[in-house]
Amino acid sequence: MSTDAASLEFRDVVKRYPGADENAVDELSLELPAGEICVLVGPSGCGKTTAMRMVNRMIDITTGDILLDGRSVTERKAADLRRDIGYVIQQIGLFPHRTIADNIATVPRLLGWDKQRVSERIDELLDLIGLGSEMRDRYPAQLSGGQRQRVGVARALAADPPLMLMDEPFGAIDPINRERLQNEFLRLQAELRKTIVFVTHDIDEAIKMGDRIAVLRKGGRLAQYASPAELLMFPADPFVEDFVGADRALKRLALQRVRDIELWNGALCRVGEETSAVRARLAEADLEFPLLVDGQGRPKGWLSERGLSGERVREDIRSRAEPVLDLDDILRDALSDLLSTETMYGPVVDAEGTVRGVLSLRAIANALNIAPEEVPSSAELASGALTQ
Ligand SMILES: Nc1ncnc2c1ncn2[C@@H]1O[C@H](COP(=O)(O)OP(=O)(O)OP(=O)(O)O)[C@@H](O)[C@H]1O
Ligand SMILES: [Mg+2]
Repeated sequence: MSTDAASLEFRDVVKRYPGADENAVDELSLELPAGEICVLVGPSGCGKTTAMRMVNRMIDITTGDILLDGRSVTERKAADLRRDIGYVIQQIGLFPHRTIADNIATVPRLLGWDKQRVSERIDELLDLIGLGSEMRDRYPAQLSGGQRQRVGVARALAADPPLMLMDEPFGAIDPINRERLQNEFLRLQAELRKTIVFVTHDIDEAIKMGDRIAVLRKGGRLAQYASPAELLMFPADPFVEDFVGADRALKRLALQRVRDIELWNGALCRVGEETSAVRARLAEADLEFPLLVDGQGRPKGWLSERGLSGERVREDIRSRAEPVLDLDDILRDALSDLLSTETMYGPVVDAEGTVRGVLSLRAIANALNIAPEEVPSSAELASGALTQ
């Protein structure tokens, strides 16, 4: 896993198929830094596959240019170029009469690697994609759709290419396995840091997978090229706005973690502590109840008025500190936890379980820059509006 990733640039790229009266890709310009995932998204027929296939010259560019690490793809022999570019096609495309091992070995063998090296690479990749080496001698038909898809990814990665093209790689897979594969792939990418062009027609998948998203409209015209957050917050025009959907405030929640937003300041207290000190802290806090914590600073519960009535704090809990949220929680999940326990706020802990602040519905609304009454209800959350 040593080859560096390559940067990619589309420069005024046009594709017109012979006999067509409209361009399939129209003056497409975009730059992708090395090691990032660019998602091409848009309705069927908007030119996603065409744009992608011009990169490895499976389709000729009509005018304009595509540069891989600053060098025009047209200057290179197509066969050479394709060995540098891993390609996962729309329908997986494993060779049915070859074993899984032989499928994965396709490009390394083309490159003339010796047997030992090819064999080691197969084991390494099977391990990477979470399949056992007992899969080596099976045929594609003996695998599930999700497993086949992973083998497709392994095959594309086999020669450690600096660029990967992935055309709807998870399109044919049921939603649950799809989510699993997406997560697996993102974990893999965090290690590999390949440059990836990823095609999908699913905006939720684009938001989840992309460092940058290129929204295309019919005729292969670029409507917007932006980060997922920017796309959700500032859609460039009504087409993009419509495409990202009316629930974009909700989608934004999936992009942030609890640690990313400004938490409320709660007054913490311990059993036996002087109540006057706690009252002083309460005056500074964002919440009117103190949070009782144990010796390690872990939450025990919200202290009652009685617990504060003496000179020293007594263990008298008004309500349990539920839910307890984690700094690393996705904001959407944290909100869903708050709503399902029907509470307005919950303590947030770090990896050690120590309280680091309080998450409230209002803090979430602030972070999203919306009025608190617009915070989605649990019904909206449950309706799947937020499913990735
Ligand atoms: N070989 C071809 N000859 C002529 N026209 C083509 C060819 N391939 C694609 N087209 C046309 O070019 C346009 C873009 O097609 P393309 O396959 O790139 O779309 P896409 O965005 O990948 O669609 P989908 O989401 O359905 O896969 C379409 O209008 C299509 O009909
Ligand atoms: Mg396509």
